[in-house]
Amino acid sequence: MSGKLDGKVSIVTGGSSGIGRGTSLLFGAEGSKVVVADVDVQEGEKTVALIGEFGGDAVFIHTDVSQSAQVRGMVQGTLDHYGKLDLLINVAGRQAETPPLVDVTEEEWDLVMDINIKGTFLACKYAVPHMLEQGGGAIVNVASSAVLRGSSFSLPYSVSKAGVVQLTKTVSSQYASRGIRCNCVIPGLVDTPGSQGVEGAAGIFDEAVARIPVGRAGQPEDIAKLMLYLASDDAAYVTGSAYVIDGGRNVQ
Ligand SMILES: NC(=O)c1ccc[n+]([C@@H]2O[C@H](COP(=O)([O-])OP(=O)(O)OC[C@H]3O[C@@H](n4cnc5c(N)ncnc54)[C@H](O)[C@@H]3O)[C@@H](O)[C@H]2O)c1
Repeated sequence: MSGKLDGKVSIVTGGSSGIGRGTSLLFGAEGSKVVVADVDVQEGEKTVALIGEFGGDAVFIHTDVSQSAQVRGMVQGTLDHYGKLDLLINVAGRQAETPPLVDVTEEEWDLVMDINIKGTFLACKYAVPHMLEQGGGAIVNVASSAVLRGSSFSLPYSVSKAGVVQLTKTVSSQYASRGIRCNCVIPGLVDTPGSQGVEGAAGIFDEAVARIPVGRAGQPEDIAKLMLYLASDDAAYVTGSAYVIDGGRNVQ
């Protein structure tokens, strides 16, 4: 690896699985110290162990991103353990298929908003003051290609992810002049426990893959490489942007 993140400290929410694990591993391999923040302790510790296997430095901090006190604790725990915070990667998310509008329960709406949009908001809210103190930082959020069209998959999910795109642009406009860049990625179908749970259960994962022009689902590593670019100094002039990464699916 090229050490693109040597000396950096990153938080990756949702780092116990899928895209978050892939990102944690790549960031660790590129020299960043990594805080894996997730509700899944067992799988989170596994991500930490995998990073340790190639000599990387990582720690797990149990965090429910929808809970303000826990997100504050995640940021403070990072500062206590590693002394600073350079990169915040907001991957934690709930992706559950829901029935059409009239049958969406308020409970599901609240749950999705609390994790996907409030969780991203809280992490940014508590990380940014420390980034400002140390003169800058970078944030990468995760939206979804569900924001590119009307989505039959889930109304709360697609609305929450549209919120993530707007939050990204607004954080960028408020803090770019003070050294904080904020971007987001818009993945199409990615092969993860999360998407297999949703798509696979309905037997539609393979059908969805067949509609992707490059001929396969994305892998967590594909998304992690884009996150790496956006988090690294190579993207010093990139902020407020939303990058589609979907194997060509949404330009068909
Ligand atoms: N897989 C895809 O096809 C796809 C496509 C577009 C966007 N996304 C987005 O990418 C992100 C990761 O998806 P994935 O497919 O890797 O999912 P995944 O289910 O494999 O991983 C999600 C992780 O988030 C964690 N998490 C859930 N709720 C949490 C909470 N309240 N606090 C902290 N952690 C929590 C889970 O424990 C899990 O480790 C999500 O935001 C998802 O919406 C995924």
